[in-house]
Amino acid sequence: MKIIDGKATSAAIKAEIAAEVAEMTGRGERAPFLAAILVGHDGGSETYMANKVKACEACGFGSSLIRFDEDVTEERLLAEIDRLNKDPEVDGFIVQLPLPRHIDEQKVIEAIDPRKDVDGFHPINVGRLSIGLPCFRSATPAGILELLDRYGIETKGKHAVVLGRSNIVGKPVAAMLMQKAQPGDCTVTVCHSSTKNLKEIAAGADILIAALGRPGFVTEDMVKPGAVIIDVGTTLVDDPTRKSGKRLSGDVDFDHVAEKCSYITPVPGGVGPMTIAMLMKNTLLARNGKIY
Ligand code: GUN
Repeated sequence: MKIIDGKATSAAIKAEIAAEVAEMTGRGERAPFLAAILVGHDGGSETYMANKVKACEACGFGSSLIRFDEDVTEERLLAEIDRLNKDPEVDGFIVQLPLPRHIDEQKVIEAIDPRKDVDGFHPINVGRLSIGLPCFRSATPAGILELLDRYGIETKGKHAVVLGRSNIVGKPVAAMLMQKAQPGDCTVTVCHSSTKNLKEIAAGADILIAALGRPGFVTEDMVKPGAVIIDVGTTLVDDPTRKSGKRLSGDVDFDHVAEKCSYITPVPGGVGPMTIAMLMKNTLLARNGKIY
């Protein structure tokens, strides 16, 4: 069994991006610029944001963090999005999710100019992804494909089973894996809360992607010997042995599954760090006008 090291891969990607940015700025060109909007003070979102700002610094990008209080109106938020859409110095921006309940999340996503939607959440980018056109790809699934690619994992003709149908991970990773491409060219099954024989389907997977947000859900009996296991789960669970009293748990029972599979991503240090690396990659693509 081999551990897929997302932390090291993410660091390598950021170093590649930093080298390209150094070349750009050396030619007198402006560095890429990523803006981020954060509403409220959700602990998880604060951590994501701090990591994104750090990654921008590591890549040589300019960045700005725009904060709003929890009670900001939808109108004010939409006005800020309009301003960023029009700002020629901003190559891409994201609105950190989830948003407070009084704000219509879909309306906010659709207000973002698809050419600056480096999260790849706008229906234009999602639609383009599904028919194989150039687009900004959602960062977490793009990070999963990048890991499969960089570890030289053959995907053509393989049965990929995706557990979870979220708009951010399950649906886009299924779309990416079924594309006629390497990585890709898989036969894809998507399982969700209404799937009847989920365990049997998972046990038939050559590549199993767990994105349910249910700690330890994937047990040894649900894994085919030699399968590739990608764990997207990141749930904070109680752990009295830790100083903080908490630890991050994946969707896979790592200790038991690891012995049975060919490759596995750990939590933390697997898919998580790749998300930010791919966001940086999307921002570089936005700066270079490589998509639109
Ligand atoms: N919340 C959790 N993950 C993400 C992400 O990748 N992008 C945004 N905008 N919000 C998130």
